[in-house]
Amino acid sequence: MTILLTGGTGYIGSHTAAVLVEAGYEVVLLDNLSNSRPEVLERLRQVTGRTLPFVEADVRDRPKLAAVLREYGCTAVIHFAGLKAVGESVRQPLAYFDNNVGGTLALLQAMQEAGVATIVFSSSATVYGEPQYLPLDEAHPTSAANPYGRTKLHIEEMLSDLCRAEPAWRAACLRYFNPAGAHPSGLIGEDPNGVPNNLMPYITKVASGELPSLGIFGNDYPTPDGTGVRDYIHVMDVAAGHVAALSFLQREAGWHAINLGTGRGYSVLEMLRAFEQACDHAIAHEFKARRPGDIASCYANPAKAASVLGWRATRGIEEMCESAWRWCRASKGATRSP
Ligand code: NAD
Ligand code: UD1
Repeated sequence: MTILLTGGTGYIGSHTAAVLVEAGYEVVLLDNLSNSRPEVLERLRQVTGRTLPFVEADVRDRPKLAAVLREYGCTAVIHFAGLKAVGESVRQPLAYFDNNVGGTLALLQAMQEAGVATIVFSSSATVYGEPQYLPLDEAHPTSAANPYGRTKLHIEEMLSDLCRAEPAWRAACLRYFNPAGAHPSGLIGEDPNGVPNNLMPYITKVASGELPSLGIFGNDYPTPDGTGVRDYIHVMDVAAGHVAALSFLQREAGWHAINLGTGRGYSVLEMLRAFEQACDHAIAHEFKARRPGDIASCYANPAKAASVLGWRATRGIEEMCESAWRWCRASKGATRSP
């Protein structure tokens, strides 16, 4: 089976490519390189021992996508490509609707043209909005707190309508919680452009000396230590979840929403301490005001993934921090002393 990975050179796409190759799949990576670099391809060659086919293209280029699907004989698509910065989406909503919603529409039309009807979509726990109860299961009501989240909801709904209208379609919307960590080789990992918005890449950059101090957004939440609690999940577990979703969609048609989380939440301070253990030095930090739009706690009920996909997360926060640090040192040659 040959799988097209849109956004294939990005953080989660590149890890999933490695895991799919290991599981015996053929993959084709497609990306416009707006948030990733072509060097990832050489790293993937070292990880997999193979040169993976790569197409530099935009998912909004429908004729190109249809041609790629036909040329490589793809039977399914994993759709990672998208913009993902919440703050940017508030400032530039049209860019997000164009890229994420418009891009998915063009992709689905291209798939229809090429006779490909199986898709795994990168959704997010953001579709649950402010939690009404915890842990979050897939039956929790959905809502969007910002344009980024709204694009994920629109795409999920678009896929649901399509599956209802055309019984041949199969779609799994994987609702990721907080992916973190890197491939155990240290060759691929998360490498955001500029100052990171998310916790783990920020901690990593402070640990390596690239940024002076971590600002902890709020220490007065109703959580055990007052800092925000999230369900961090190892990116290698997320990648394995996609392999399980592809086999699931071979058995089951229709539309499915499935959480990819561990079921366990950790606070910002717990993550900071775990990272300090991994890098073996103290990480400068200071408490700051709450970040607007943040929630106190968010973690998954992962039972559906276990029952329908036969998948569960197996790696803990120590492994997330150790692998992120290994990747940071290997890619940047960080030598900071405490
Ligand atoms: P990423 O930015 O590393 O990867 C996305 C890739 O898509 C990038 O390589 C980018 O260049 C590419 N891309 C963007 N727009 C494109 C377009 N129009 N055409 C072709 N390529 C395009 O992000 P990631 O962390 O790997 O996230 C992958 C997906 O998972 C995204 O859809 C994101 O919204 C979703 N997601 C991520 C997280 C997370 O914490 N990382 C959480 C929930 C959901
Ligand atoms: C963010 C997005 C969410 C997206 C998810 C995964 C926002 C408001 N939400 O979620 O839509 O699906 O990423 O990409 O951006 N923190 C700090 N200091 C920092 C960074 C973060 O204290 O410099 C704290 C946050 O307040 C939060 C926790 O760390 O309590 C995790 O933050 P982050 O990594 O940004 O993820 P989410 O807020 O869960």
